[in-house]
Amino acid sequence: MAEVTLDFLGDLRRTHNCGELRTADAGVNVVLMGWVHRRRDLGGVIFIHLRDRYGITQLVFDESKNREAHLRAQELGSEFVVAIEGTVALRSADTVNPNIATGEVEVAVSKLWILNTSRTPPFPLEEDVDVKEEVRLKYRYVDLRRPHMQRNIIMRSKIAFAVRQALNEQNFLEIETPFMTRSTPEGARDYLVPSRVQPGQFYALPQSPQIFKQLLMVSGYERYFQIVRCFRDEDLRADRQPEFTQIDLEMSFPQQEQIYDVIEPLIWAVCEAAGKKVDKHIPRITYAEAMNQYGSDKPDLRVPPFHRVEDLFAGAGLTTDDLPLVAIHVPNVGQLSRRERDEIKASGQERGLRVFDDVKRLERDHAERVAKMRERIQPGENDLIMLAAWAGEPKGALPDQTVLAACGQLRLHIAQKYNDRHELLDPEIFKFLWVVDFPMFEWDDEEKRWNAAHHPFTSVHDEDLEKLETDPAHCRAKSYDLVLNGVELGSGSIRIHRRDVQTKVFAALGFSEEEARRRFGFLLEALEYGAPPHGGIALGLDRLVMILAGEQSIREVIPFPKTAKGTDLMCEAPSTVPERQLRELGIRLNVPHQSSDRK
Ligand code: AMO
Repeated sequence: MAEVTLDFLGDLRRTHNCGELRTADAGVNVVLMGWVHRRRDLGGVIFIHLRDRYGITQLVFDESKNREAHLRAQELGSEFVVAIEGTVALRSADTVNPNIATGEVEVAVSKLWILNTSRTPPFPLEEDVDVKEEVRLKYRYVDLRRPHMQRNIIMRSKIAFAVRQALNEQNFLEIETPFMTRSTPEGARDYLVPSRVQPGQFYALPQSPQIFKQLLMVSGYERYFQIVRCFRDEDLRADRQPEFTQIDLEMSFPQQEQIYDVIEPLIWAVCEAAGKKVDKHIPRITYAEAMNQYGSDKPDLRVPPFHRVEDLFAGAGLTTDDLPLVAIHVPNVGQLSRRERDEIKASGQERGLRVFDDVKRLERDHAERVAKMRERIQPGENDLIMLAAWAGEPKGALPDQTVLAACGQLRLHIAQKYNDRHELLDPEIFKFLWVVDFPMFEWDDEEKRWNAAHHPFTSVHDEDLEKLETDPAHCRAKSYDLVLNGVELGSGSIRIHRRDVQTKVFAALGFSEEEARRRFGFLLEALEYGAPPHGGIALGLDRLVMILAGEQSIREVIPFPKTAKGTDLMCEAPSTVPERQLRELGIRLNVPHQSSDRK
């Protein structure tokens, strides 16, 4: 391509954006600026779709009306940055474009300024073009121009604004907490930052602002919030990133109910900002109920619950009598072929389950029991019902939870597989749910110790306090999760505000006095200086936006995300660092060929 002479912007100013011109503007002289989205050259007339953040406007360069501008327009390529001056004109009825908001008008260009050229983009910017994610991430600045990314990032900004507004209205203060700090126990590994001035010492990036927000309650701020970046070194999935954003808040003197009363209006404000209609009622179930009805602590309510039926089939030999027998019910699946049934059985088997796929056959041997089961489930004519039980011999004391979780996964597998028939998993339906009363501790079979199910600062139910030492397995936590369409959106709890109780919980978790003091001494001490009862919650902003935007991965709503290996493909991070920099930090690597130079 011949060299293009670039124009200066000078004192030129936009009068309008590319999304706002309408028929009422006909005859108005305008200055627009943006990118060349599409170009159609019909010889004497060149049509350009000019794009900016607000939309697309058609430009017309007509040789018979303005030779000079038409000549210049011949130089334009995809994604060139231009400014134009021209007059808004009505399009004839047969050339109206109903697909764009400005489709009834166009701008007859009298002057064109070429402000910058562009290399040919690595992929087309059209909505429906499938591009490999690696290429998109390498050229993220181009990818972010694509309409669906712009929609997502704009939605994210609107949601963040709605959050600030909603919390401001409820008297919350936005307060920042440090990024260079000590380890916070949220169950992942820490990212460490070495100190140059104190060689051999490290900061940890916060996994959450948990401890600081509790300290702010001790300091008397009463209502804190922050839209805050958190850092966790853990295995990545579609809904996990090593750095992600929380809507984090904490309150003093709260009842659990009051936390819901703060979050619910915030959620409605967020949904409104995202332009989504939702049912403004969030049901609440306990963790035990969630496991019993859905086999999951984050149930997707768009699909109906399963039913425990071991009581109806006692002695029928379908399951070891003391383990669950579960009837999975998915509406409107219709008739399944032999092959489809076999696939479901195999999928159950992979999860350790034996699936009774043929209820009719079961009916022959157990007519009365099956009739009672139908009475319990009340299925429609086209609904699928299959029974599932643990396949193998239970090894020792196999917890019901394990069997129920496997049944829950199978339920979702079937629902997802046949969604084209029942369409229950409609991304435009938003089913929120509070799951409450989680167990306080989880048994870590590898380490042979109890771990905090939420985090070690969570309060135990008052009536379970006694059991901390004697029966940790049955201690219920004052904790709650907010779930949306099967995704854990947020987690929170009422905290421990008394030093004596915190010490007991640390002991139940197997921390020695010494270790507790070493890791959290400052918090323990703070609890001795008038710590009020307090509690809070953190919602994952990325996950919230992901679901409201109808995306499958949080990478689609994060401007510059990392790959599953934690790499930023665009700026090539992480990277090696010069030997000199390591030396300054007092670090010697134990990994060959890791420094980028030998100076
Ligand atoms: P928790 O660890 O459950 O609780 O985190 C709260 C919410 O943060 C989101 N989240 C993530 N999102 C993307 N990528 C990740 N790697 C990731 N990890 C967590 C989830 C999750 O529900 N301090 C407590 C909250 C509290 O008790 O107030 C905490 O961080 O949506």
